[in-house]
Amino acid sequence: MSEEEKAEFYEILKKFADSVGVSGYEMEIRNRVIEELEKLVDKVEVDKFGNVIGIRKGRSDLKVMIAAHMDEIGLMVSHIDKRGFLHFTSVGGWSNRLLPGQRVIVYGDSGPVFGVIGLKPPHLETQEEAKEVIPMRKLFIDIGASSREEAERLGIREGSIAVLDRQVVRLSGSRVTGKAFDDRVGVACMVYALRLLEKKEIEPTVYAVATVQEEVGLIGARVSSFKITPDAAIALDVTIACDVPGVEEKNWVTQLGKGPAIKIMDGMMVNRFIAHPSIVRFLRKIAEEEKIPYQLEVLVGGTTDASMIALTKEGVPTGAISIPTRYIHSPIEVLDLTDAVNASKLLSTALAKFTPDVIKI
Ligand code: CO
Ligand code: ZN
Repeated sequence: MSEEEKAEFYEILKKFADSVGVSGYEMEIRNRVIEELEKLVDKVEVDKFGNVIGIRKGRSDLKVMIAAHMDEIGLMVSHIDKRGFLHFTSVGGWSNRLLPGQRVIVYGDSGPVFGVIGLKPPHLETQEEAKEVIPMRKLFIDIGASSREEAERLGIREGSIAVLDRQVVRLSGSRVTGKAFDDRVGVACMVYALRLLEKKEIEPTVYAVATVQEEVGLIGARVSSFKITPDAAIALDVTIACDVPGVEEKNWVTQLGKGPAIKIMDGMMVNRFIAHPSIVRFLRKIAEEEKIPYQLEVLVGGTTDASMIALTKEGVPTGAISIPTRYIHSPIEVLDLTDAVNASKLLSTALAKFTPDVIKI
């Protein structure tokens, strides 16, 4: 893969991942997505919940929906105390272990305000405290204010949103780190795949959806797929790559740099998502024909927009392409640009060749 392709992908990923869009408050990321999609599709719509739907017309009326969520997990101010400390709750699933000691940006009504998630110095910790994971209700954000009024003057109130303060940077080789790769990398793959299809004839009409509120219950996927009523769908999201020291190989799920993952199954015991076998077969065939490396993903726990889209109306054959990512749901996610570019290539080729035959059971 060429350095230019990786660099071009990196620019889109950085534009999206350095943007803010906590579930339900996707305004900033939405504008950036619209800006990119407008150059690549015939029509861009925004629905009542804020999902962005880009429609790229194909030769046929077959409707293929592709979806990646643009929301990210974040924090929400739940109480401002007399001394100006902000108490908060989580929007989406953070690991409490990694919040203390982080720098955050709180979005007050009059703009962004820096803060830190403070904690007791180690000198004052008891032995028990040193071992415990501090529950979120005991954590607080210190914005430097000395009173509630001072915080209010900065436009901060109950319900203000906060994100961890992190920018995307490149690591060694084609690895990168940042926040919100879950799922801005999926949104970037969607945009990059549409770029690869520019000026090319495609078979189906593609509905490219940047969904809202995935992290709080797959909400955007639910309402947007109802509106679109697709004939088939492919979701794009990150999956776990646990190929790090101290984890047995059988628990890695995927590895970085070994290609995008074609999802076979995810979810919990009674809430499994089984990717439609015809779509799995089709994606594997495309990967093999195009010599795109790929992995097969069987994930216990966790799910994506795919599981919701599949249950729309009388059912939608749905598959998913995953981008292996380390340290998911932390501000230091790590992925390999080659996997993301290959995911985009797999998606674009699949879209170009998607015919009604693909979803015959
Ligand atoms: Co997530
Ligand atoms: Zn996700």
